[in-house]
Amino acid sequence: MAAAERAATEAGIEILRSGGNAVDAAVATALALAVVQPDAGNLGGGGFAVVRMGKELASLDFRETAPTAARRDMFLDSDGGPDDDASREGPLAAGVPGTPTGLYTLHRRFGRLPWRDVVEPAHRLAADGFIVSRRLQQSVAGSRKRLERYPETAAVWLPGGEPPQAGSRIRLPALAATLKSYAEQGPTALTSGAAAQAIERVSTKYGGILRVTDLTGYRPVWRQPLTFEAFGWRFASMDLPASGGIILAQTLVLLETLEWRSYPRFGAVRAHLLAEVWRRSFADRFLLGDPATTLADSKTLLDPDWLAFRRSTISAGRATPSAEVVRSPQPTLRESSDTTHLSVVDGAGNLVALTTTLNDAYGCGLLVPELGFFLNNEMDDFAAAPGHPNMYGLVQGEANAVGPGKRMLSSMAPTLGFRGSESVVLGARGGGRIPTAVLQVLLNLLEDGDPLQTAVDRPRLHHQWLPDLLRAEPDALSPETRETLEEWGHEIEVWTRTAKVHTVRRLADGRFEAAADPRGPGVAAVVDPLP
Ligand code: DON
Repeated sequence: MAAAERAATEAGIEILRSGGNAVDAAVATALALAVVQPDAGNLGGGGFAVVRMGKELASLDFRETAPTAARRDMFLDSDGGPDDDASREGPLAAGVPGTPTGLYTLHRRFGRLPWRDVVEPAHRLAADGFIVSRRLQQSVAGSRKRLERYPETAAVWLPGGEPPQAGSRIRLPALAATLKSYAEQGPTALTSGAAAQAIERVSTKYGGILRVTDLTGYRPVWRQPLTFEAFGWRFASMDLPASGGIILAQTLVLLETLEWRSYPRFGAVRAHLLAEVWRRSFADRFLLGDPATTLADSKTLLDPDWLAFRRSTISAGRATPSAEVVRSPQPTLRESSDTTHLSVVDGAGNLVALTTTLNDAYGCGLLVPELGFFLNNEMDDFAAAPGHPNMYGLVQGEANAVGPGKRMLSSMAPTLGFRGSESVVLGARGGGRIPTAVLQVLLNLLEDGDPLQTAVDRPRLHHQWLPDLLRAEPDALSPETRETLEEWGHEIEVWTRTAKVHTVRRLADGRFEAAADPRGPGVAAVVDPLP
């Protein structure tokens, strides 16, 4: 088990010990995160899960959708540019939550323990209270401006005007009552009746457009996982409306054919190749959006001819300026700061990668007072004004414009990898930095043979096409390598905003390893002996 908070990892371990499978543990952990990591864990957000249960591979899309009243120009300011405040703060920024129905749907198909048992650890944390971590105190303090806008939120998270003190016990009675009804009645307890009315009421009060009918009408979707092979491994990741899996697949396949393996580790050529494949992949991302409106998909973007074309445009010893990267000349293409990831493997070898989010820390900042949870601000993942950057600096296209009922494009990349009896489960938080972080952890692990924790710890690089910058964590590049890359035309920025990866794996000899990212909150644990 690896997840962002100790109490959540422990909830998963408790479920595994009591005979639950990987899905039971993942759902219990996700719900515990909704209590102890309120900035990202959620009931008012959405996410994706990729699972292998027995021989079956499946992926569930419980991404938020735009409310029925959403319009493509709803986040434009008077000059036609994006109004960042409108798409980020307050309930107008909220998509229809997917988590309540999503986690239940995942459990219903694959869980083994009764639903009530799986919700119980989270319920207990909210009802009996939990000890506030230093991280949580700092996180609330860091988001004070967002949280104090709404008295409903401040009453819970800024009692007496101050963040809860680290080391003190906090109880969340409204959230506990919500989890109790969720345990007893399933998702309708949160998406219909009095609960749905409470959400509509507080949303309307602050200018939002969420309606009861949006909540009752929300459906998660089972989608075909995105499967591909590279470096002798077989992978299953999330397809659209997540872009992370497509970026990961394109870049892994390209790096293999660019003979990544033959270049020295930590050298300039490898860094150059990373920058060049990412630059092209993120340019392709410009075409992506909800499966119904996307201008390209995993099939067209992983087409061998398209990848061969992309490969042919990469030059040795010269950075391609991002402005020169062609977007999709293929006739076959149709013209037309917070997340949390958890990884679980159980004793039977079942695997779950689950990433869930409110988007930014505490979502839109508004807490539904009767229910005790935050609404997301996922609407900012749409291209508010196509061609302009969003919160993660991602420049996105027409396919991802706002539209009623649409799912906003995500960068999440919950991913499974297999080779014989070995397997790896991973994913990350961190917006557009997710697929680049996941790729580097996989390369460290599968190609360069690092132990799991080392693979996660190593400094990382990032490039996302626009802005045309190769971002490097301190120590990711030696001074000589940096100099060579600059000579080749890369503009380099030292930066510390890579994504945070949580991962587990099963080794060929049957042992398990789990690793949490030292850059962010995270706790990894292995149950020993396994039930
Ligand atoms: O779906 C996405 O790509 C974003 N909403 C993810 C947000 C995220 O990872 C925030 N983490 N720091």
